[in-house]
Amino acid sequence: MRPYVFVNLAMSADGKISTRERRQVKISGTADFQRVDRIKAGADGIMVGIGTVLADNPSLTVKSADLKAARRRGGRDEHPVRVVVDSAARTPPDADILVKGEGRRIVAVSASAPAARVSTLRERAEVIVAGEEEVDLGRLMDELGTRGLRRVMVEGGGTLIWGLFRDGLVDELITYVGAVVIGGRDAPTPADGDGFVAENEFPHLDLAGVERIDDGVLLRWTVRKKE
Ligand SMILES: NC(=O)c1ccc[n+]([C@@H]2O[C@H](COP(=O)([O-])OP(=O)(O)OC[C@H]3O[C@@H](n4cnc5c(N)ncnc54)[C@H](OP(=O)(O)O)[C@@H]3O)[C@@H](O)[C@H]2O)c1
Repeated sequence: MRPYVFVNLAMSADGKISTRERRQVKISGTADFQRVDRIKAGADGIMVGIGTVLADNPSLTVKSADLKAARRRGGRDEHPVRVVVDSAARTPPDADILVKGEGRRIVAVSASAPAARVSTLRERAEVIVAGEEEVDLGRLMDELGTRGLRRVMVEGGGTLIWGLFRDGLVDELITYVGAVVIGGRDAPTPADGDGFVAENEFPHLDLAGVERIDDGVLLRWTVRKKE
């Protein structure tokens, strides 16, 4: 069974998730940071694209000591299984996601990833091969399901999120809209990639929640399943 997939992201009031230099910036505040930590602690897996690993070097660990302790009490690792979507096995072996904090890691690669880089990654993570040239996201979700992951949180970036929407794999979209303007025609947005062309391809959303947090707003959408 495929996991429930929820995307969580922070964007500026003008719809950018980082600068045109693809540099990570602070878009939300302390209360939102804590909210993200809570939903991360409630997930079985947390997923990012290789673009985010190379740009931001995130560890994707749970930060709160209480939340980590609660996970341990529940018989789980302190951190959700960390998953990198990385067709060509470009994840640096010393990336924080592979070395910081206890728990399982998975790097999803394609069949065309160079064997030497794949075997280096196997020393630090489980490697799942899905897809020929790029990672087949549907197959990856199936594989995560067979490994017992029921809830997967996606942290970005825009190219991976686009791929997940294109393949009909997103169940919920959680967007924090922060009180800043970043600008830039080339700055990443929540769903980049090629984009849909025909209106009948657009995924449709139902608004499930609106909440003021810090000096921005949190929007929660569920994704309507296509018949
Ligand atoms: N504000 C936020 O909430 C937030 C969160 C995270 C990231 N960001 C920002 O987002 C930016 C990075 O985003 P990004 O778009 O460059 O990278 P990304 O979405 O993190 O990673 C994209 C890469 O994933 C790989 N991939 C493999 N299979 C794929 C598939 N089927 N569909 C889509 N992607 C696939 C591709 O590289 P290969 O072909 O090499 O595999 C692709 O280029 C950074 O600027 C970061 O700061 C912002």
